[in-house]
Amino acid sequence: MDAKNLQSSFAVVERRAEHAVKFFYSHLFWHNPAIRAMFPDSFTDMERQRDRLFAALTHVVSRLDDETLLPYLRDLGRDHRKFLARPEHYAAVGASLLAALAEASGEHWNQDVEKAWTEAYSLIADAMMEGAAAGTDPPWWNAKIIRHLQYGSDIAVITLRPDPPLPYRPGQYVSVSSERVPTTWRTYSLGNAPRPDHTLDLHVSRIEGGRLSTALVRDVAPGETLRLGSASGSMTIPHVLTQPLSLIAAGTGWAPVRAILEDLAQRPPEVDLRLFVVARDTAHLYDRPYIEELGRRLPGLSTTYITPAPGQHRNQATDRLVTALSNRGLWHAQDVYLSGPPLFIEETAMLLERLGTAPDRIFHDAVPAAATGRTRPLGFREWFLRRPDPQWHNPAARAPRHP
Ligand code: HEM
Repeated sequence: MDAKNLQSSFAVVERRAEHAVKFFYSHLFWHNPAIRAMFPDSFTDMERQRDRLFAALTHVVSRLDDETLLPYLRDLGRDHRKFLARPEHYAAVGASLLAALAEASGEHWNQDVEKAWTEAYSLIADAMMEGAAAGTDPPWWNAKIIRHLQYGSDIAVITLRPDPPLPYRPGQYVSVSSERVPTTWRTYSLGNAPRPDHTLDLHVSRIEGGRLSTALVRDVAPGETLRLGSASGSMTIPHVLTQPLSLIAAGTGWAPVRAILEDLAQRPPEVDLRLFVVARDTAHLYDRPYIEELGRRLPGLSTTYITPAPGQHRNQATDRLVTALSNRGLWHAQDVYLSGPPLFIEETAMLLERLGTAPDRIFHDAVPAAATGRTRPLGFREWFLRRPDPQWHNPAARAPRHP
């Protein structure tokens, strides 16, 4: 591939990302009305699509010489089977992408640049179609709901029986779709270690305005079928632990941590385990009895619950987390797993680095911001302040960001 031409052309296009994305989707949907129906009805948020498309293009363009690129594309293609993407769609997407790149490049578009992008796209599309054709697992798993527990108005734990059984490791997540909100897929963490009966639990937190999360928390019922994509995510632990482990979870970020602890409880490790569970109020500590049971099964586990004091502002929990982490020592000797809203992860990781944990010992999944159904990831404070009731927000009471 002509890496030099591609990268310099991409730098030009990136500056006009907004325009390129609008042009791309308008071109694609105008020339292929049937493809429009493959995308969600709510597919109007161009800011989010810009972030997604450019994240994918940046991934490709910055890894042209990287040996991980082809496996990434094959996996992406295998995963695209759940969107019902077929070879003829790849040709249509390619034609619209080329048209959008030419449009956004303006006077920088020439024959060499066009040739470089054409070759790059056929390499990408071939790798994705190859991955799709070679996929031996199903494009998606049909999973019957066998239990639905709702906690308050915004959290649900849904137990499903996928058929055939869905392979995954504790700490991973899956993408989920329901016929109630056709063609929309969102990722949710799996909250249990694999069970002999192959059932699994999804922990879902309702997003204000999020159609799928609202349907999953409030509407779906036992007997109904959901679709699940294959499991992904790298927040998994080694089979044998050699380092003390700290797990820090906020909100339904508790789910992957729960799966990891449940797995560890089957073979309690020799090392110390620290668990920090952060919730915006005590009512949101929806799994506390089970956390206490895990504490009995894992003698090395010490648990700290972090909620605001009764009657206190919710953002006090942020300060309490900072204090709780700062009061514990030996951060340089810990492997730390973080799970929660994207900015919670970012801010907590920064704090841990200051407390001495090496960056390569901090593990988390970068669940795409798009998975939350919002255009921008929620910050930790924002998460406490804005949900579930926006009325509650009081900017004057907003405390300064922690150091
Ligand atoms: C060859 C280049 C392509 C690349 C690099 C690509 C990349 C991506 C990425 C990174 C995502 C977001 C990840 C996800 O939600 O799982 C995505 C979503 C999607 N892609 Fe593709 N894709 C390509 C081709 C196609 C084709 C040919 C189709 C079929 C029309 C397609 C249909 C979709 C749909 C329906 C979504 C979900 C959109 C949403 O939920 O908002 N893609 N694609």
